[in-house]
Amino acid sequence: MLDTLHWDTDLIRRYDQAGPRYTSYPTAMQFHGDIGPFDLLHALRDSRKALRPLSLYVHLPFCAHICYYCACNKVITKDRGRALPYLQELEHEMAILGRHLDQRQRVEQLHLGGGTPTFLSHDELRHLMSQLRRHFHLLGDDSGDYSIEIDPREADWSTMGLLRELGFNRVSLGVQDLDPAVQRAVNRLQTLEETRAIVEAARTLQFRSVNIDLIYGLPLQTPERFARTVDEVIALQPDRLSLFNYAHLPERFMPQRRIDSRELPSPADKLAMLHGSIEQLSAAGYRYIGMDHFALPDDELASAQEDGSLQRNFQGYTSHGHCDLIGLGVSAISQIGDLYCQNSSDLGNYQQSLASGQLATQRGLQCHADDRLRRAVIQQLICHFQLDFTRIEQEFKIDFHDYFAASWPQLQRMHQDGLIALSAQGIAVLPAGRLLVRSLCMLFDRYLCEQNRQRFSRVI
Ligand SMILES: C[S@@+](CC[C@H](N)C(=O)[O-])C[C@H]1O[C@@H](n2cnc3c(N)ncnc32)[C@H](O)[C@@H]1O
Ligand code: SF4
Repeated sequence: MLDTLHWDTDLIRRYDQAGPRYTSYPTAMQFHGDIGPFDLLHALRDSRKALRPLSLYVHLPFCAHICYYCACNKVITKDRGRALPYLQELEHEMAILGRHLDQRQRVEQLHLGGGTPTFLSHDELRHLMSQLRRHFHLLGDDSGDYSIEIDPREADWSTMGLLRELGFNRVSLGVQDLDPAVQRAVNRLQTLEETRAIVEAARTLQFRSVNIDLIYGLPLQTPERFARTVDEVIALQPDRLSLFNYAHLPERFMPQRRIDSRELPSPADKLAMLHGSIEQLSAAGYRYIGMDHFALPDDELASAQEDGSLQRNFQGYTSHGHCDLIGLGVSAISQIGDLYCQNSSDLGNYQQSLASGQLATQRGLQCHADDRLRRAVIQQLICHFQLDFTRIEQEFKIDFHDYFAASWPQLQRMHQDGLIALSAQGIAVLPAGRLLVRSLCMLFDRYLCEQNRQRFSRVI
């Protein structure tokens, strides 16, 4: 078992509940339609004045095949020609946003996500990067963290060579499960060799970090079969590993209706898969970063956690939390100072807005004082597993105990149950509570009510 984690089935059963993943607080559920392009441009003005560094996220929604489990914002099409008009609107968006920023604002982090960014042709990828360099200050010396999500079925050595040449130095590969029966049940056929070829290319081309995504809870998975997948993935030695709990919400995600719910593993088997995976990863030297993420000790996420600089945003755990996050593309989210805003999630609407010269900002939220305070508490717990009351009291001019009096009985219960150590000075999340940190964060979430909880997947 990882030194920082202690597995306790009874506590997991009692405390595991549906809840947000806290890539932001308030979560995107709270976004509303009163936020529009004007708010975004206003926030960009502040970002420009302060010359804050930037983190860019570009959403590329197209995929050639449908994976039945998928909950991402994507457009399934065999027509490669659909990328071009999208890229043209993306350029309009870059031009508008770039005009409101200062070329001295360095892009420390760039992430191309999807969908499948490598759906684009080599020429399209080249053009996209040249446009990004034209409108934003991308770094030319490989010092930024520039990453891209790769479906190994949609990439080869030459793609990897191109990506490295274009400035990418991190890759994240979708794998999910290597068992052919599971792959057939979710319509994602992908051999170990396809994945291995991309990992080897990444190493040879000196990408700084390789992440692999796995999902447990998929149809036909069993603890024994999934353990084989985890072993095979460990043998590839990714620097980071994401182990997602399959969120089966067929009423929200149409393609999931093609999954036979009778083939889904039982809750007990899911727990066994998670437990077994943690044991395997621990034995292989991986550290638990938090939520669904593991990393080798020399990976930047592990060192950021050690030196206290780790943060969490829409890109997951990051060491670039000090940057303003600019989201480009359909459904992309920006976080600039205290403003969150999101583009339309509908491809047609997104393209139409930009074609008429308007930004596609459709919803969002401006944090007020209480949001900022709770955000700081949740960030600290989810990234560092500890909270110093005095720091929060000084920063936000409150008395912690008084402010959160309503949560105290539940905090005390968690203390008695051994999930946290609660003292007059603060909270330390104990090894038995780390997997359940989301349930702890939920005690500080002002917006959480029963009705909202139904929309989230369970913690484990
Ligand atoms: C945009 S995809 C990754 C890139 C590429 N499209 C691919 O599939 O290889 C993002 C990741 O989200 C995860 N994911 C998608 N749907 C999920 C679901 N319903 N539950 C849990 N994780 C999910 C998968 O692990 C997937 O690799
Ligand atoms: S998992 Fe990746 S490839 Fe599959 S449908 Fe979702 S975004 Fe597309």
